[in-house]
Amino acid sequence: MAGKYLVHTFGCQMNAHDSDRMSEVLEARGWLVAEDAEQADLIVLNTCSVREKAEQKLRSEIGKLAPLKKRHPELVLAVAGCVAQQEGEALLGRVPHLDLVIGPDNLAELPDLVREQQAGSPPRARTVFDLSSPRFLPASPRPGRAPVSAWVTTMKGCDERCSFCIVPYTRGPERYRPHEDILRDIARFVASGAREITLLGQTVDSYRDPALPPPAALDPDESQFPELLRIIARQVPELARLRYTSPHPRHLTPSLVRAHAELPVLARHVHMPVQSGSDRVLRRMIRRYTRAEYVRRVESLREACPDLTLTTDIIVGFPGETREDFEATLDLVREVGFVGLFGFKYSPRPYTPALKLGDDVPEAEKSERLARLFEVSEAITQAHLGRLVGTTQRVLVEGASKDAARAQGRTARNEIVHVLVPPGHDATGALLDVEITQAFKHSLAGEPAPGQLAAMPARAQQPAPARRTRRSLPLAP
Ligand code: 5AD
Repeated sequence: MAGKYLVHTFGCQMNAHDSDRMSEVLEARGWLVAEDAEQADLIVLNTCSVREKAEQKLRSEIGKLAPLKKRHPELVLAVAGCVAQQEGEALLGRVPHLDLVIGPDNLAELPDLVREQQAGSPPRARTVFDLSSPRFLPASPRPGRAPVSAWVTTMKGCDERCSFCIVPYTRGPERYRPHEDILRDIARFVASGAREITLLGQTVDSYRDPALPPPAALDPDESQFPELLRIIARQVPELARLRYTSPHPRHLTPSLVRAHAELPVLARHVHMPVQSGSDRVLRRMIRRYTRAEYVRRVESLREACPDLTLTTDIIVGFPGETREDFEATLDLVREVGFVGLFGFKYSPRPYTPALKLGDDVPEAEKSERLARLFEVSEAITQAHLGRLVGTTQRVLVEGASKDAARAQGRTARNEIVHVLVPPGHDATGALLDVEITQAFKHSLAGEPAPGQLAAMPARAQQPAPARRTRRSLPLAP
């Protein structure tokens, strides 16, 4: 029996994407979004286990739902995502009010599994990887209602064995989506109003598809990702921007750099996780590149696109990380000039090889290193954003900003810009030339350059917010 549902998303963009697909399979079977948890017949917590903190958040969130389940025993409570895959049956044993545990590869089965629960089945865990015939749920945006910037999955799983990372265990081995299916999703999004596509995969640049021309060189690091980018650029000419996340530096090969030089549709920003600036730590992380190799790849990208910005992920306090190792990381951050970064304290994860290395950097030291990392990084961000004041930047407007008089969008280099929009106009989806007037901590403000008003139709309705997914569960206080 279809009813009302809520999906609560934790963690990465892949989870947000999976949540969207769950909503679509449910809605295809007549389910509607509930306004609050009290009304819901089904609540799905789509979980993350990349760091322990994320897992703790889930535990507290499930705990909060116990009284609700007591009041409404017919409510179906499900845990999806990486914690589901990692814990399976065991989670049902630990959380007595839980009905369903569903892995990332079993999302299509959600409506049937829920129906079983509603018919009185005992709690059930379904966490089977689809190894022999990988399944990628197609996106089904509503006509005219697609977000300006949409995400399309190109691969799932991960064949790297970075010693800190749980993802290969929760998402399984790499499986790639046929390029025709990717093109179909992109076309559907573009036809429904999207102007920017971000290709999504754990190591998005390791892409392979036997139906595409072979890699440009015999080098095992070469993939068919550059070919995928080329075919998208060719077959979807109306696309305003194409992004991808996250690449593994190993596959950022000369042919991918060439694609950046040749394809104007490719955004002038790459988020390329480096994790550490110390060769000793990189080796123990099993990252399969040295600092010098990473820097060389950055340099060749910059030669191809001088205005390109780079952002990254960094782990501090990895087992055995000395002060010198950490200084080497700070030094790399300055050398590359990352305009933004996500920094994390190392968190030991089940199944991962780094568990054997212990967790010997004290918590206080990790906190201190993280604070210093952010200090260095924010100074770079500030200098970078400050330099843009007084320039004119092309901004793809994604939706309303927090400030009612402004819309929010991004430049090709991924700087967030709050644009002043005259009353009665809607700039959503427009590519606007914006004169930058002010730099904030993490974003810019500006006004449309003269003559840009024509790109903004009179507003027919309230603009949709720029935010893409629900990140909090509306629980009764
Ligand atoms: N501890 C801390 N950070 C981690 N990440 C992945 N695994 C861990 C871990 N065990 C970080 C990496 C990765 C990002 C998504 O999360 O920096 O790029």
